[in-house]
Amino acid sequence: MHCSPIWFRKQVLHWYDQHGRKHLPWQQGKTAYRVWLSEIMLQQTQVATVIPYFERFIERFPSVAELAAAPTDDVLHLWTGLGYYARARNLHKAAQKVVSDFQGDFPQNLEQLMTLPGVGRSTAAAIASSVFNKPAAILDGNVKRVLSRFFALQEWPGTTTAQQQLWQWSEALTPEKRVADYNQVMMDIGALVCTRTKPKCDQCPLRNECLAVAMDQTHLLPKPKPKKDKPSKQAHLLMLQCPDGRVALSQRPDSGIWGGLYSFPEFTDYDTLASHLTQLPVERVDVWNEFRHTFSHYHFDITPVLVTLNHLPDVIEDDKTLWFNPVLMNENEQAVGLPAPIKTLLTKLQQSL
Ligand code: ADE
Ligand code: SF4
Repeated sequence: MHCSPIWFRKQVLHWYDQHGRKHLPWQQGKTAYRVWLSEIMLQQTQVATVIPYFERFIERFPSVAELAAAPTDDVLHLWTGLGYYARARNLHKAAQKVVSDFQGDFPQNLEQLMTLPGVGRSTAAAIASSVFNKPAAILDGNVKRVLSRFFALQEWPGTTTAQQQLWQWSEALTPEKRVADYNQVMMDIGALVCTRTKPKCDQCPLRNECLAVAMDQTHLLPKPKPKKDKPSKQAHLLMLQCPDGRVALSQRPDSGIWGGLYSFPEFTDYDTLASHLTQLPVERVDVWNEFRHTFSHYHFDITPVLVTLNHLPDVIEDDKTLWFNPVLMNENEQAVGLPAPIKTLLTKLQQSL
């Protein structure tokens, strides 16, 4: 670690004394029930949205026992508008578990708190530290962002190794004393200073040791989730060629890729393509190397198959088939729309003539 945990704690706790949030509804008359309820609501929702919901909940269900005894529909009804309704179902189940397994009193240790539906490691630690003053480290979205920047984590925070590293940092920094204030201020800095876009580093108590600042990477961190690889689609394209060099092109349907353009007939695999050759006067077959054409949403892996004929066949004379002379590619009478990779193939055919 490039800075001492003592410096880090001193910085953030001093900031807490001056600027930290101390008047949120769940910080008044702190009980495990109130803090737990607020933490569940805050898991995916911002403070300003949560406040009126929190107050309505507490009014309707003043204790965990009253929440546990309520019909699920009442709980869901009060939750309407907060979203992520699995949270409301878990909330109700957890309240019932507190009543049935813990005599209506929230457990104080992390392991037991984590047995409650909807309570993960960070939420359990937030409750244990905030209410029972246990020195437990948290790692919610806010803290993850602050630590990812402060340590200039060069990885998307969602990977297993990144999570382990972040937990390790959070645990090493969390103090034994004033742990409730410390955890609260880390969330406050994340929410108010080290914001997702345009962090207010000039107001941040951590700026002098912040590696994202030192490396001028605040706008690049935390690293985004790597984009999923595009899917790929395979096709074999049939290039039927007459002895005079002309090749068969056919117009594609108006919808779908290359709509209305002229292309080589497309087959899902080689065997399907070969089954279309039986009636034709085939001289030879050359399978060319596969190449990749990339569309916005997928890769198209194309295997061209050049089939040379003895003579012009009569079986595939239809109005969609065009006997196209690659040598005269840029002549007007052959002016048809051609997809770029097909043009490339025609150029190669022209060069081989
Ligand atoms: N987000 C999650 N828990 C919070 C808390 N206790 N205060 C502010 N934001 C939070
Ligand atoms: Fe975040 Fe800026 Fe503070 Fe670093 S200095 S922790 S980037 S707000």
